[in-house]
Parts: sequence; structure tokens; C-alpha cells
Amino acid sequence: MKEPVEIKPGLFWIGSEDPDLRVFDDLFPTEHGTTYNAYLLKGTDKTAIIDTVDHKYVDEFMDKVRSLVDLATIDYIIVNHTEQDHSGSLAYLLENCPKAVVVSSVAARNFLTNQMHKPFNSQTVKDGDTLDLGGRQLRFIIAPFLHWPDTMFTRLEGENVLFSCDAFAAHYCAPGKIFNDEVDDFTSARHFYFDCIFRPFKDKVLSAVEKIRHDVIDMICPSHGPIIRQDPWKVIQQFETWSKPTSFSKKMFILYISPHGNTESMAKAVFDGASAINGVEVVSYHISHLSSDEVRTLMEEADALIFGIPTINRDIPKPMWDVLAYLSTVKLKTNIAGLFGSFGWSGEACKMAEDRLKGMGFRLPLPAVKSAFTPTDELLTQCEELGRVIAEEVQKKN
Ligand code: FEO
Repeated sequence: MKEPVEIKPGLFWIGSEDPDLRVFDDLFPTEHGTTYNAYLLKGTDKTAIIDTVDHKYVDEFMDKVRSLVDLATIDYIIVNHTEQDHSGSLAYLLENCPKAVVVSSVAARNFLTNQMHKPFNSQTVKDGDTLDLGGRQLRFIIAPFLHWPDTMFTRLEGENVLFSCDAFAAHYCAPGKIFNDEVDDFTSARHFYFDCIFRPFKDKVLSAVEKIRHDVIDMICPSHGPIIRQDPWKVIQQFETWSKPTSFSKKMFILYISPHGNTESMAKAVFDGASAINGVEVVSYHISHLSSDEVRTLMEEADALIFGIPTINRDIPKPMWDVLAYLSTVKLKTNIAGLFGSFGWSGEACKMAEDRLKGMGFRLPLPAVKSAFTPTDELLTQCEELGRVIAEEVQKKN
């Protein structure tokens, strides 16, 4: 849509549609494209813009703003989050809005300083601070790590509108449609978006939901996808449900790959050692039998993770590198890990994995058990010991 849409009296959508986008941030597939939502809100005394759009749409964004107000009259630009899909047009907007003050969290102000490299009028806000536009009041709700440290929500008090930034959003564009009750159900797109962006921040989602739990919310104005005016709390509850732990028993998982069966023999010994400890469920998986989503779910449920990694061509085999990469895409509840693996003539893989795990804050209670070709009985006993010691650590966890 090239024109603003008045979604409530004096509140306008001034975003951009990007229906053909197929990969977001060079990372996430966007089967349904996306939108970059921005809003303009008029009070009786002051005018505020809430977020901007990706820079590739700066011209149509500026046209929308100019069609509504004289740029010189804009008082505030509220920045809920500084990722460039929302702040990408800010510098240009500021150049044309001489009296505008950027209102943001402290973290966002610092990030903008590093993005724009020029002075700008700014006002930082804390949780609960308010801003009066004349007859309309905004309240700020600091919601860090949804999904950057800078994130906040902005609430239009009295009218029960929540500008939720990336939260409660979806990469979903139905050109010409602005509200969720005008489009087909897009829960699956929302869930995929949650998995891509919010899965590592589930605890932050739950904290943010607690902050708004007692608020009446009639409309969610997110940064991506349709505005939610039908069943807004259903969407919040979806994010909450997807963020809650699904398992309460203690579990440890052995994830291995084994081209020649040697690392698999070690995995069986690790399993036997761990299984001797009461109160801990131990499951061993050859990673080729798991989908990427299953691997990520296991990682989130695990109270300990043990990786069986052979060395191939002086490296970790590619499928296991992929598994290790998933560690940063999930919300882990453990920092306990173990390593074992066979090798032929060099044996670098376990050390590489150890560096990766320690770099992510994991603790390895025992050194990696490494076997040159076929594991001896002595090495298999060390594998049993590895499993037993880690299972005991899990057993002791609260
Ligand atoms: Fe839609 Fe984190 O930016």
C-alpha cells in the first residue's frame, strides 16, 4: 500500500509491504514475505512516529509521513528497537524533522549512535515512563532481548494499543490487508517466525508477558505482519505457550555420528555408564536419525548433552558442525556437556568441539575420551565413567 491507513482516529499505519522477500536477514525463509510496520500518532499538542521502515522503502515512507503532517511539526520519533529493518530510515527522517526527539531505551540510544555517527536529539526512557502528546499518553515497557538488548514496547494508554516491536509479530504480508481479521489464519507463519527469532529468548518472552499480563489490550501493532485487533491475547498466549518448558524430568542426551562404528561403540558405553544412575532419563541418538527441529527440541529439554564426534579429514564432520551450530539457536537449560569420539591418525574434532562448547559457556566435568580407531576395553571403561559422572551431576541438579 502506498497510502497511510488510519487504524484508529489520529493513529496511522505508515509502514511498507515487502511481499516478495524470501529470506530475512540473510537467515530466515519468509515464504509469505513481510511488512515493516511504522505508525504515526497525533495528540492534540504533539505528534509522534513509532519506528521507521527498512531503508529500501525510505522514499515511500517519507511520502506517507508528508501526506499526513508537515515534517517540521513532528515532535517525537519513538524507537522500540534498532535493527535496521525498523531504524533504516531514521537518519533520513531526522534530517527532515528538525525538532524531533528520538525516544528510546538507553541501549537503543547507544546502538543508534553507532549506526548513525552523527548527533541527534534524544530522550531515554525507563520502564513505566510516560510521554504526553496532549489527550493521549504513551507508556514505555522495557522488554529487553525481544530479541535485542534494546527492545521496548510502547503502550497507548486508555486506548489499549500495544506497539510490540518484533514480539507477537510474523513475517506475513497479504498486500492491501492491514488487520488480522482480513487475512487467512497465519498461525503457522507466526510459529515459524517465533522459532527463528525468539526461541533463544523464551525466558525473556515470559518476563515480558508478565509485565503486560494485567493490561487490557484491544489491539497489538507489531513491527511485522498484520495488526492484531481480533483476539490479541490469543496471540500473546501463543508466544507464552511456545516459550514455556515442556518437560520437568531430568534428561541427558547423547548425540553422535559414527561412520565406521567406533564412535557408536563408545556411545553405547557412555549410555551404559549414565543409565546406571537413578532418576535420570538417558537417550542416545545417531544424529542422522533426527530432523533439525528434533535436535533443537532435545537440546532445550536436556539437563546435559554429550556429543560423540569422530575426526574426519582433521575436522568435525559437517552434520555434527550443524548440530553444534544449533546450540545458539535454542534456549538451553543446561551448561553441562561431555565429549568422546574416535579418530584415525590425528584427532582434532573433540578439541574443536570443546572450544565451541566452552566458548558458549558449557562446563565439561571430564576431559574428552578419544580413541584411535577401535576403542579398547580401557577406553570403553572411560566412556562409562564419562556417562556416569555427568549423570550424577544431572541427578544433583535442582
Ligand atoms: Fe524486525 Fe529485530 O527487527
